[in-house]
Amino acid sequence: MKYRGNFTPMLLLKNISQLVTCSNVNNFPKKGKEQNEINLRLDSNLLVDKGRIEFIGSQKSLAKILKKKKFKVTKEIDCKGKVVTPGFIDSHTHLVFSGNREDEYEMRIAGKTYQEIAAAGGGIASTVSSVRKSSFNNLYKIAEKRLSKFIETGTTTIEVKSGYGLDTENEIKILRVIKELKKNKFGLDIIPTFLGAHAVPKGATKKQYIESICYEMIPKIAKEKLAEFIDVFCEVNYFDKEDTARIFSEGIKFGMIPKIHTDQFNSIGGVRAALKHRAISVDHLEVLKDKDIKKLSGKNTIATLLPGVSYFLDISYQPARKLIANNVPVALATDFNPGSCPTQNMQMIMSLASIQLKMTAEEILNAVTINAAYAVNRQNKSGSIEIGKQADLLIFDIPSYKFITYNFAVNNITNVIKKGRIIK
Ligand code: NIG
Ligand code: FE
Repeated sequence: MKYRGNFTPMLLLKNISQLVTCSNVNNFPKKGKEQNEINLRLDSNLLVDKGRIEFIGSQKSLAKILKKKKFKVTKEIDCKGKVVTPGFIDSHTHLVFSGNREDEYEMRIAGKTYQEIAAAGGGIASTVSSVRKSSFNNLYKIAEKRLSKFIETGTTTIEVKSGYGLDTENEIKILRVIKELKKNKFGLDIIPTFLGAHAVPKGATKKQYIESICYEMIPKIAKEKLAEFIDVFCEVNYFDKEDTARIFSEGIKFGMIPKIHTDQFNSIGGVRAALKHRAISVDHLEVLKDKDIKKLSGKNTIATLLPGVSYFLDISYQPARKLIANNVPVALATDFNPGSCPTQNMQMIMSLASIQLKMTAEEILNAVTINAAYAVNRQNKSGSIEIGKQADLLIFDIPSYKFITYNFAVNNITNVIKKGRIIK
């Protein structure tokens, strides 16, 4: 039995057949064998007060506590025959954009590659021209509507990047939309990342653009406290490892923590640049080399894998098994964006991780909860079901947690609870 002291429980989840806690073992991201440990509790009960988890325990200890103190349980959900997990944390998205790219998608289906389309003026550049024309209010409305889709399939915390403005005015416009989204009606946690270095905009040289990122955008963004993280797309025709190092160094001076898009199509030294600047996560990794896996081995930098991109662009999948075998903590995210992965569905990503990355159900659950929390520096607040943490919970009508990936493409979530509030 675990019990935190004086409280007035509001919400009771009782008779939870399987409670997947994903609890943190040692205050580090889960790597190696630990990636496979979910700390499952059977026939458990859970009390929530003021948005936090107050009690987890057996029927007997629950009865004792309810008897001893005069608690007022205002809402009760019987979870017999159900599975409860932490809310999913989508630690890599490009939520704020206007315009869609279904025409490019059709071109790809007909045989063109993502890079060919980008070289012909499509790709990121086409979304940038749409975003520049969109007002703050328009971008806000579109993004908030998209949030409800994330909730449907279990996302309760979401990281959101800028990167479709590519000039000071428009990057700040996106980041202000992200800031405003923190007040979203669902109460989702929104975590902002500055990705000015997503591409070099038309009309500027790379040198000029990097200068504007370093000396104009970063100081302004820091002053308005618009971003916790700074991200760079380290890739051929985008930014190389020297550019990355320079942008990270500037961001760090202003208190931003590095994240990186790297090794998606080419391996050009992004992982080493990221490690040198103590990046919190290295994301993508479709073409990650063994020598870089060795560099990541044993460290707490999260490898955030985005198998939805591999699926949608029909490119290689990430070496999850090698990463886990080499003690690299793995997280999974959607990379929700209009070009390389237009899905909000974390369960789809979990299915791909199972079938394509050969991850176990347990490894996957840790990858979308506690390890993802580490990737966005929220490990003390969310990512696992533990006393004192935010009550971000999912209830599934399934006989075993293994059904989340087994019964693929079916959403078995009956309730989504965010900070103790039932939002679905
Ligand atoms: O994470 N890799 C770079 N950026 C996005 C794709 C952006 C786009 O195509 O609009 C990604 O995959
Ligand atoms: Fe991305």
